[in-house]
Amino acid sequence: MIFITGCAGFIGFHLTKKILKNKKNKVLGLDNLNNYYDVKLKKDRLKILLKHKNFKFIRRDITNYKKLENIFKYYKPKTVYHLAAQAGVRHSLKNPEDYVKSNLIGFFNILHLSKEVRVNHLLFASTSSIYGDQTKMPITENSVITKPIQFYAATKGSNELMAYSYSKLYSLKITALRFFTVYGPWGRPDMALFKFTKNIINNKKIELYNFGNHFRDFTYIDDCINGILLLSKRKSVSKYDIFNIANGNSRPLEHFIKIIETCLNKKSKKKYLVLQKGDIKKTSASIRKIKEQVNFKPKVSINIGIPKFINWFKEYYGFQR
Ligand SMILES: NC(=O)c1ccc[n+]([C@@H]2O[C@H](COP(=O)([O-])OP(=O)(O)OC[C@H]3O[C@@H](n4cnc5c(N)ncnc54)[C@H](O)[C@@H]3O)[C@@H](O)[C@H]2O)c1
Repeated sequence: MIFITGCAGFIGFHLTKKILKNKKNKVLGLDNLNNYYDVKLKKDRLKILLKHKNFKFIRRDITNYKKLENIFKYYKPKTVYHLAAQAGVRHSLKNPEDYVKSNLIGFFNILHLSKEVRVNHLLFASTSSIYGDQTKMPITENSVITKPIQFYAATKGSNELMAYSYSKLYSLKITALRFFTVYGPWGRPDMALFKFTKNIINNKKIELYNFGNHFRDFTYIDDCINGILLLSKRKSVSKYDIFNIANGNSRPLEHFIKIIETCLNKKSKKKYLVLQKGDIKKTSASIRKIKEQVNFKPKVSINIGIPKFINWFKEYYGFQR
């Protein structure tokens, strides 16, 4: 049995769908369907997953140790993909306690129970945000992560330390996945691509922090999922390991917006704002390690990936919003 937490979330949904394509796989998915963003979107993702007979869903919160323990003891998962977390950088400025609950307490519960039932492999979502404001690019996995500039990143960095200690103490195979700005169909409403597309369609202004001078290593969802699945089979050179999962190309936000405009055949109205507290100016990943170890090859550039998102968006919302 494969256990995926956060299966109704953006990345968890795509990962679950891909794993279920192989009819031999059985997946147990968990999510608390919280209202951090539109719950309907989460439920609609779930509806698609529930069409598979090899998929079972449990609505539960990972902060509830007792209930989570029952699940681990009953299903005895072999592989755990832990994606449930409180995501988002801006939300962490106002609601840090959400991150303590899901990302520290919830994470510990998953880690400890993975040890208790001796899972073969625990893979969990970390983030590029833990690199903070580094200037040495592209960023390798060896870069310093002890200077987070937001609380979200601090909780994810703590996850990596907690996981490292458990891996050493109990000889557990654990892989930390440092995702870089993942985007694509069924994407998150709190992220730039979704917000920009929606506002441009609705003739509303798009807000550009740091006067639009951000750079991001945008990672298309299918490449992200491929990376995760390749790493699930990584040979255990070391029990604990960390990988960047990214496209490996850092692009200016202005260029990203131009592609959206071309796709929608409409100009955006821009509102330029100062850099926000906690905002990272540039992300640019080295993907050498994941390429060398598991032959990862990202295939989708933003020129291809953005139109795919926009097609989905128009279809899903009937072009109304
Ligand atoms: N999308 C990105 O660009 C990106 C980048 C870096 C890291 N990440 C990390 O990847 C993971 C997945 O991200 P996503 O973009 O799919 O986010 P998401 O918010 O769409 O998915 C997370 C899911 O976890 C669920 N969840 C949250 N707290 C929970 C709890 N306490 N108990 C049970 N379920 C809970 C939510 O309901 C949601 O469906 C997260 O850990 C996130 O921090 C994402």
